[in-house]
Amino acid sequence: MEYSFPEGFLWGGAVAANQCEGAYNEDGKGLSIQDIAPKGLRGPITEKPTEDNLKLIGIDFYHRYKEDIKLFAEMGFKTFRTSIAWSRIFPNGDDEKPNEKGLEFYDNLFDECLKYGIEPLVTISHYETPLALSKNYDGWVNRKLIGFFENYVNVIFNRYKDKVKYWLTFNEINSVLHAPYMSGGIFTDKEKLTKQDLYQAIHHELVASALAVKIGHKIMPDSKIGCMILGVPNYPLTPNPSDVFESMKQDREILYFADVQARGAYPKYMDRYFKESNIKIHMEPEDKEILKNTVDFVSFSYYMSSCATADTEKKKASNAAGNIISGVANPYLKASDWGWQIDPQGLRYILNLFYDRYQKPLFIVENGLGAVDELVTDESGNKTVIDDYRIKYLNNHLVEVAEAIKDGVEIMGYTTWGCIDLVSATTAELKKRYGFIYVDRNDDGTGTLERYRKKSFYWYKEVIRTNGKSLIYNYR
Ligand code: BG6
Repeated sequence: MEYSFPEGFLWGGAVAANQCEGAYNEDGKGLSIQDIAPKGLRGPITEKPTEDNLKLIGIDFYHRYKEDIKLFAEMGFKTFRTSIAWSRIFPNGDDEKPNEKGLEFYDNLFDECLKYGIEPLVTISHYETPLALSKNYDGWVNRKLIGFFENYVNVIFNRYKDKVKYWLTFNEINSVLHAPYMSGGIFTDKEKLTKQDLYQAIHHELVASALAVKIGHKIMPDSKIGCMILGVPNYPLTPNPSDVFESMKQDREILYFADVQARGAYPKYMDRYFKESNIKIHMEPEDKEILKNTVDFVSFSYYMSSCATADTEKKKASNAAGNIISGVANPYLKASDWGWQIDPQGLRYILNLFYDRYQKPLFIVENGLGAVDELVTDESGNKTVIDDYRIKYLNNHLVEVAEAIKDGVEIMGYTTWGCIDLVSATTAELKKRYGFIYVDRNDDGTGTLERYRKKSFYWYKEVIRTNGKSLIYNYR
């Protein structure tokens, strides 16, 4: 079987500033919430940055981006997704003037991409709220964040309007339900955070996202601005109608965020939830109008699917690990080393689900396999990783993307997560590797930071060169 992708399909890879740049306190950068979260979601935050926090150095992308982008270009990337570290531009988030050195860094980074014909795809906020906004305002719980965000987007849109066409507002915006500190910069302990404050914070983010679309379209009429959703589709664990309904309910916890950003208003089903949970969203008179600025496309991450059941006993008995959202294990699926259930067909499923619902172009901006890699020396004496497991994972997911295209789904592009090894978000470790490029840095901080091409590097290069024709049906 031969697979075909549309002309101009945006093949590429994705990273986030806080997971790869390092240089956490260089050139005027302020601290971000990540600089005091050495264990990701696994452990507490610290008072100050501590040496065991791998993100402080990351993979030193801040100093090595030229070398890395050259490697991306060698693979034939059409696009490269990264984020702007907000605290490089506004060190405290509420500063009056931006930090010129931070702005210059991204000028250079985007120029370097454009030099090779690689379109930057930029996430405006990817789990890296300036720490001062978190500590002093409790992050997005405070409506003032909308104003600070507005200043930030005005500055970056004006600065990069001739360099960046594709933008994403908040990375995995729905993850705030599960990781309020990492996702929403909310300093209050998760256990102490009231639902009222959480949903108010979400409202502020949704308004800020719509404002970014409005401002972006004004400053850059040709730009394409998308939302970004953590996509974990739910399947009912059994055909029991209660499980089916539970599955729909859990899907709505995800879809609610995309509904607001893609359709321009709160979905009706949230009314009942708010009422029964005693939540009253405070809206300013202009909010409803602002929300009407809908996104140009819907982007999402996809690593796994999950099962839903209304049976609380079964729920307790089988709690599958997951990417921020965890659910019930699916008996038909195998899991990665980190317990994430691998389900290529689920990608076709969610693509169809989103497209039917929104009728807007979609962009898969994260997909990949976190695995332990072994660096070996090949016959020519080059260091490499024989990562057939990663090739299999990506191949099988891309085949389902091709199927979704045949189903009629409009897809703009595909960026694999962690196209170069980086520090993981949930567990803050380096041994969970996603890249086509191996980075010599270990969890104990040792390593030369040298880069090596893995087997998957050459595989992806061929996929891009043939525009998907080299994909293999049912790769084993
Ligand atoms: C997504 C995030 O949730 O998943 C990324 O947007 C993250 O920042 C990725 O790195 C993979 O998760 P992890 O925990 O394996 O890094």
